Amino acid sequence: MKMRTLGRNGLDVSALGLGCMGMSGVYGAADRGESIATIHAALDRGITLLDTGDFYGSGHNELLIREALQGRPRDQVLLSVKFGALRDPENRFIGFDGRPVAVRNFLTYSLRRLGTDYIDIYRPARLDPTVPIEDTVGAIADMVKAGHVRSIGLSEVGAETLRRAQAVHPIVDLQIEYSLISRGIEAKILPTCRELGIGITAYGVLSRGLISGHWSRDRMADAQDFRRMSPRFRPENLERNLALVEALRRIAEAKSASVAQIAIAWVLGRGEEIVPVIGARRRDQLTEALGALDLTLSAADLAAIEHAIPPNAAAGTRYDAHQMAVLDSER
Ligand SMILES: NC(=O)c1ccc[n+]([C@@H]2O[C@H](COP(=O)([O-])OP(=O)(O)OC[C@H]3O[C@@H](n4cnc5c(N)ncnc54)[C@H](OP(=O)(O)O)[C@@H]3O)[C@@H](O)[C@H]2O)c1
Repeated sequence: MKMRTLGRNGLDVSALGLGCMGMSGVYGAADRGESIATIHAALDRGITLLDTGDFYGSGHNELLIREALQGRPRDQVLLSVKFGALRDPENRFIGFDGRPVAVRNFLTYSLRRLGTDYIDIYRPARLDPTVPIEDTVGAIADMVKAGHVRSIGLSEVGAETLRRAQAVHPIVDLQIEYSLISRGIEAKILPTCRELGIGITAYGVLSRGLISGHWSRDRMADAQDFRRMSPRFRPENLERNLALVEALRRIAEAKSASVAQIAIAWVLGRGEEIVPVIGARRRDQLTEALGALDLTLSAADLAAIEHAIPPNAAAGTRYDAHQMAVLDSER
C-alpha cells in the first residue's frame, strides 16, 4: 500500500482511506455482512484510515466498525470520527453542537460505541456558528492531553477558521469535498492548508456516485436517499452531469481504466498531502477504487481530463441551498 503523511507532525496513513458513511443508510439500504466484509477487505489490502461520524445512522456506523474490528489489533487502523451533528428520532438533522461540554459528551459515547479508549482523529463535522472555533478545538486539545484523542481534524471549514484553529492546536487534516466537479478548495482553502502544513482528506471524490461511471438516469427512480435531494442529481442537472461522465469514460477507456479510477487518480495526483476517502460499500467497489493507485496520469491525460471537465463544469451545487448556507468553507 502506498502511504501518505497528514499534517506537520506527520501522521502516516494509507494513500486511500475508506469512508463508512454509506454503510449506514445514507445512500439507501446497506448490507451488514457486505459492509463488514468490505471493511475487512480494506484492512487486508493495507488501508489504514477508516472515516465515520457519530451521527451516521445515529451510532449505527460506529457500532458496525466496532464489530468489523473485533479481533484485529487496534493499532492497525486509524479511526477518524466526526461529531456535533444533532438528529431527532426520525433521523432528521436538528442542529449542531460544538460547545466544549458537548465535545466531552460526544467523545465519551463514541469511545464506548467503538469499543476503544482513543480516537486517532477527532473533528467537528461542521463549524458551530455560536461557538468560537478556539473553544471547540481547545476542548478537543484537552482530550488529547488526557489521552482520549491523538490528533485534531476539521471538516468543511474555510481558510480563516483553519488559521484560528491551528493557533490553538496543530490540525492534522481538513476533511472536505474535492473532486473533478467540486474544485472550490483550489482558490483559498488548499493553499492555506499547504501553508499551515494541514493535510486534506478528500470526500465526495466520486461525487457520491455521480461520477463513478455507474450512475444512470434509471437509478434515480429508486434512489430514496441523500441523492434524491442533491442538486446535481436533479433531472434538470443530471443530463449535463452524466454527459461529463461520458466524456471522462472515453479517456478512461483509452487507458484501460474505469471512470471511477480516473476520478480517484486525478485527486491523488493533486498533491501528496491529499488522501481520498472513498465511500465504497461493497468489495467490488473497493477493488475498483484501489485500482486507481496503479494508474499514472500523464500530462497529456491531465490535459484531456481538464478539457473534458473544466472547473465549474457541473450543473448544480454540491449541497442543497440550506446546507450550502451552513458551510463555513463556502463563505
Ligand atoms: N466531512 C464531511 O462533511 C463528509 C461528507 C460526506 C462524506 N464524508 C466521508 O467521506 C466518505 C466518502 O464520501 P461519499 O461516500 O460521499 O463519496 P464518494 O466516494 O464520492 O461516493 C460513494 C458512492 O459512490 C458509489 N460508487 C460507485 N462506484 C464506486 C467505487 N468504485 N468505489 C466507491 N464508491 C463507488 C457508491 O454508491 P452506490 O453503492 O449507490 O453505487 C458509493 O456509495 C464517507 O463515507 C464519509 O466517511 C464526509
